[in-house]
Amino acid sequence: MFEEELVSNEKIEFDFPDGIELYIKREDLLHKEISGNKFRKLKYNFKEAKGLGFSKIVTFGGAYSNHIAATAAAGRIYGMQTIGIIRGDELVSNFMNNPTLKKAHDDGMRFEFISRTEYRKRNDIGFLEMLKKTYPDSYIIPEGGTNEVAVLGCEEILKTKDNSFDVICCAVGTGGTLSGLIKTSNSNQKILGFPALKGDFLSEDIRKFVGEKSNWELNLEYHFGGYGKMTNELMLFIGKFKKDTGILLDPIYTCKMMFGIMDLIEKRKFKKGSKILAIHTGGLQGWNDSIKLKG
Ligand SMILES: Cc1ncc(COP(=O)(O)O)c(C=O)c1O
Repeated sequence: MFEEELVSNEKIEFDFPDGIELYIKREDLLHKEISGNKFRKLKYNFKEAKGLGFSKIVTFGGAYSNHIAATAAAGRIYGMQTIGIIRGDELVSNFMNNPTLKKAHDDGMRFEFISRTEYRKRNDIGFLEMLKKTYPDSYIIPEGGTNEVAVLGCEEILKTKDNSFDVICCAVGTGGTLSGLIKTSNSNQKILGFPALKGDFLSEDIRKFVGEKSNWELNLEYHFGGYGKMTNELMLFIGKFKKDTGILLDPIYTCKMMFGIMDLIEKRKFKKGSKILAIHTGGLQGWNDSIKLKG
């Protein structure tokens, strides 16, 4: 269950100042359908659900959620019924027009569409108890897939050979992936997170997972207006990065991280000679939805 492809660190062959070297870990190539951090986060959740004898997975997400798409695919591949609690009851009549939800539906996921107000209760004990009654025999995975076992899976991203990197960069949504990286990092490495959302609410969540470790930081400068927001500049950057490196970034997360890294290199914010590793956390299915890559 959850067999992974070998992932390489590819060097970005740009002429960087100050002897900076940049590599990208191709976690996007980890699995054909469950790519990047979704694979890492779902691996032990599915193992635990199966091990404990559950037959269904219930999880949460919005209409463009990579996590919903990945959970549905994993359910199909590993033989578990999946149920998606989806934000927005207006989607009930037209979800087949949304590529993420259509794909999840085709992968066998059943949906329950709830209002945005109702959705805010997704972590409340009472709401979860009600879900357990509605869907007996189900294992519940939180929104974005982040919980203790997901972090455990993300602890498998960094390998011994990655000890040679000074800085490790990752896009941040809930902070689960970054937490896994922090937990396996050495204290002389800096783990740098780039939230794709606006606001400074993630540090507390991350601290809960990583405890005392302090070799990490969030850079809040590259959210481009917030979750799912895209600018012309960012779109052009994605196109140019693809042309120069052959690597496609996703439109929600990794593009903002990579833009941030390049900008910080240009502004000479990294120490001279730094060896930087950026994690490509996948998410390429996001291109099916709202925004189409130009050029
Ligand atoms: C492609 C991609 N990268 C990064 C993230 C952020 O991960 P996390 O929620 O663990 O911070 C996500 C969201 O799950 C994602 O889909």
